[in-house]
Amino acid sequence: MSTQRPPARAYVETYGCQMNISDGELMEGILERGGYTIVDSPDAADVVLVNTCAIREHAETRVLGRVSQLNGLKRDRPDMVIGVTGCMAQRMGETLLDQAPYVDLVMGPDGYRTLPDVLANLDDKRAGRTTTTIEDVVERPRKRGPQLAVLQLDVDENYQGLEQRRADGPSAWVPIQRGCNHRCTYCIVPYVRGPEKNRATDEIVAEVRGLAEQGVTEITLLGQTVNSWSYDDVTFPRLLQRVGRVDGIRRVRYTSPHPNDVTDELVEVMATEPTVCAHLHLPAQAGNNRTLKRMLRRYTVESLLEKIDLLRAAIPDIALSTDIIVAFPGETHEEFEDTLDLMRVARFHEAYTYKYSLRDGTPATRLPEEDFVDPDEAQARLEELIRVSRGIQAEINESEVGRVEDVLIEDEGRDPGQIRGRTERNKVVVFDGDPSRIGAYTRVRLERTTGSTFAGSEVGRPVTVSA
Ligand code: 5AD
Ligand code: SF4
Repeated sequence: MSTQRPPARAYVETYGCQMNISDGELMEGILERGGYTIVDSPDAADVVLVNTCAIREHAETRVLGRVSQLNGLKRDRPDMVIGVTGCMAQRMGETLLDQAPYVDLVMGPDGYRTLPDVLANLDDKRAGRTTTTIEDVVERPRKRGPQLAVLQLDVDENYQGLEQRRADGPSAWVPIQRGCNHRCTYCIVPYVRGPEKNRATDEIVAEVRGLAEQGVTEITLLGQTVNSWSYDDVTFPRLLQRVGRVDGIRRVRYTSPHPNDVTDELVEVMATEPTVCAHLHLPAQAGNNRTLKRMLRRYTVESLLEKIDLLRAAIPDIALSTDIIVAFPGETHEEFEDTLDLMRVARFHEAYTYKYSLRDGTPATRLPEEDFVDPDEAQARLEELIRVSRGIQAEINESEVGRVEDVLIEDEGRDPGQIRGRTERNKVVVFDGDPSRIGAYTRVRLERTTGSTFAGSEVGRPVTVSA
């Protein structure tokens, strides 16, 4: 479609959840195959993509600030392209181009396959070269070359056949599903990522094999409701089993599951497959039935606790973490206290806690105005929830001091001479060691806890005494 271009450099900056980080890697892979060199700073880049999150208002405010800061780079390099991709780009669409007129491209999560073509198209248009029209690209005229918008959601786009550009390391995240078929009334995800689209079993397993051959030993399967994944007649537990049995894979996790798809079959695979970790992030969202119903979570506190019992009966040692939203519109103080009770009964090892954030276009925005919880009250509930959940986390972790655990060494520690690893149950532990051992597994005694993380020491390694 266009003339030969000089080599260009691209930089992708990602915000938000693990799915988005994985999408960032996917965009890098697509750009690299499209002839771009990926660089790790915006300063030297010809194309800067900010890959955004829309889950809470705060995430979006941060991105708008960052994009305006990046615009400063255009002063010296007016040809630089600034693109905004991901969930916020999809949510705001062309209004983002009005609000941030220096943005050259907005692209939603189903457009990434076309990135190199769309960027080439933009380049041609700026240079006044003849271009072919690309389907689904909306063009808006502007003095300094047009702005482009790619916002079509595609029920078939699961990025089959495309490879991510991954950082070297022992762990890899493998997306197996995009989008979501639920409609939790607070959540923007179904509107910006469309319905659930599952990847083919063989492709997933082949990708895991390839990663294992490159030295990856830990896999996390990713999806918005990852355990509702199925393909032809393969269910999620069978996929988990197949992935766990790939030669070289020592740890398998998955995130985030929906509690309703925690089945007997899944629990059995978790309990019996040695590589499937004794850890699960199980979003509860609230501990009151009226709130859960109005959130359209499709379970009750009782049925959630049954799932937790099922997991703990089969895997007594399992570490469960969760997500909780406080101050959902209409939540009374008593109903909030039910959530605190759930925390005390379920005893999650960790909780990610959020204040309800209004997302335009979601059903909860249509609740009566007087239902919206006063911001000071919402803040007080959040702080109380954090206090309770941190207390429980600290109690659990203190009871685990003295245990000896298998640890995958992931990174350097904060202090020189220290390294940081993770146990099978997803607990972070710091201990003395050499960074050259990143990627190795070792045995570590947990010696102290800050409440949330541990300090430990390796066991069974000969002590080297320097002369
Ligand atoms: N407000 C606050 N928290 C939200 N989450 C999703 N949507 C909202 C919202 N509108 C939380 C949920 C979800 C996590 C990723 O973000 O707890 O599990
Ligand atoms: Fe959002 Fe609910 Fe889907 Fe999770 S299951 S992505 S909270 S709609």
